[in-house]
Amino acid sequence: MKTAIITGAGGFIGSHLAKFLKKKGYFVTGIDIKKPEFSKTAADKFIIADLRDPKIVKKHLYKVDELYMLAADMGGMGFISCNGPQIVHNNAIINLNLLHRSAELRIGKVFFSSSACAYPEEKQLSTKNSGLKEQEAYPANPDTAYGWEKIFTEQTCMAYHKELGLKIAIARFHNIYGPEGTYEGGREKSPAALCRKIAMAKKTDSINVWGDGKQTRSYCYIDDCLEGIFKLMQSDYDMPLNIGSDRLVTINKMVDIIAKIAKKKISKHYDLSKPQGVRGRNSDNTLIKKTLEWSPKITIEEGLEKTYKWIDSQLKKNK
Ligand SMILES: NC(=O)c1ccc[n+]([C@@H]2O[C@H](COP(=O)([O-])OP(=O)(O)OC[C@H]3O[C@@H](n4cnc5c(N)ncnc54)[C@H](O)[C@@H]3O)[C@@H](O)[C@H]2O)c1
Repeated sequence: MKTAIITGAGGFIGSHLAKFLKKKGYFVTGIDIKKPEFSKTAADKFIIADLRDPKIVKKHLYKVDELYMLAADMGGMGFISCNGPQIVHNNAIINLNLLHRSAELRIGKVFFSSSACAYPEEKQLSTKNSGLKEQEAYPANPDTAYGWEKIFTEQTCMAYHKELGLKIAIARFHNIYGPEGTYEGGREKSPAALCRKIAMAKKTDSINVWGDGKQTRSYCYIDDCLEGIFKLMQSDYDMPLNIGSDRLVTINKMVDIIAKIAKKKISKHYDLSKPQGVRGRNSDNTLIKKTLEWSPKITIEEGLEKTYKWIDSQLKKNK
């Protein structure tokens, strides 16, 4: 039986990954400072631990076939645009502790969850972003401290690989979304925030949109992301690889898709005082298609339908 540790197993992607790896027959250990909020963990063993402490990491990490580094202090634009020092401090310490101990233990292979936020700001100034290619990350100039930490940890992973022989896989996730992701409280991302606002709106209503709504992004549904992670871990590819969708949508378009799903007539009120991040961000999937024969299967309409229904049911449950 293959063994895996998932750090951040109490979070959105980590909790889904635990379910996914269990179905593949793995023995899964989850580690996080909190349990999953919305469903019971699928992990065989779940440890509550703060990975910023090297002694805690030493105590709980053990030799497994695969370590998935998903633990991070993170959130949507509202959170990452104004918590730089805390984010860099926490995430760099977590990742340095994990890599150091992985090399000592000779863990079979380590997966690092990097981000599209690692790409330079100047490549994302237009809404018409035709897709960020992996090699465009350099010369580095991310627009947030969160992105700089991702670049730093990517490089640290590569140094461990090159000099100490640690096997690594690095994915740059582009806006992963789906049920059981944070949808309120300040750390939520745009798909979940807009689903919540529309679910709470009346049949005919107006919602607040951050920025002018013309900013563009691509969104990848969680099930596609999990397939991508798995394929990457089974491959020998050891450089950063995009895992995302290459279908660009404006925030305005996303509001319209969700409103249609909700069967509501929603107009938009633009709040230009809120952070909107880069102007346009898209994934170029040429390399991952060629390397792993992976591309996302679930359309944004299908993915948002599942996400909206889940958020709507959560809100009704909590009334
Ligand atoms: N969701 C996305 O769209 C996206 C995009 C790009 C990159 N990523 C990366 O993927 C990973 C997972 O993201 P997610 O969306 O599941 O986020 P999430 O916030 O839902 O999960 C992260 C988990 O890490 C845990 N954590 C934070 N600090 C910790 C600590 N000190 N010790 C132990 N656990 C700690 C949190 O409690 C949380 O459960 C992160 O590294 C994130 O940066 C996600």
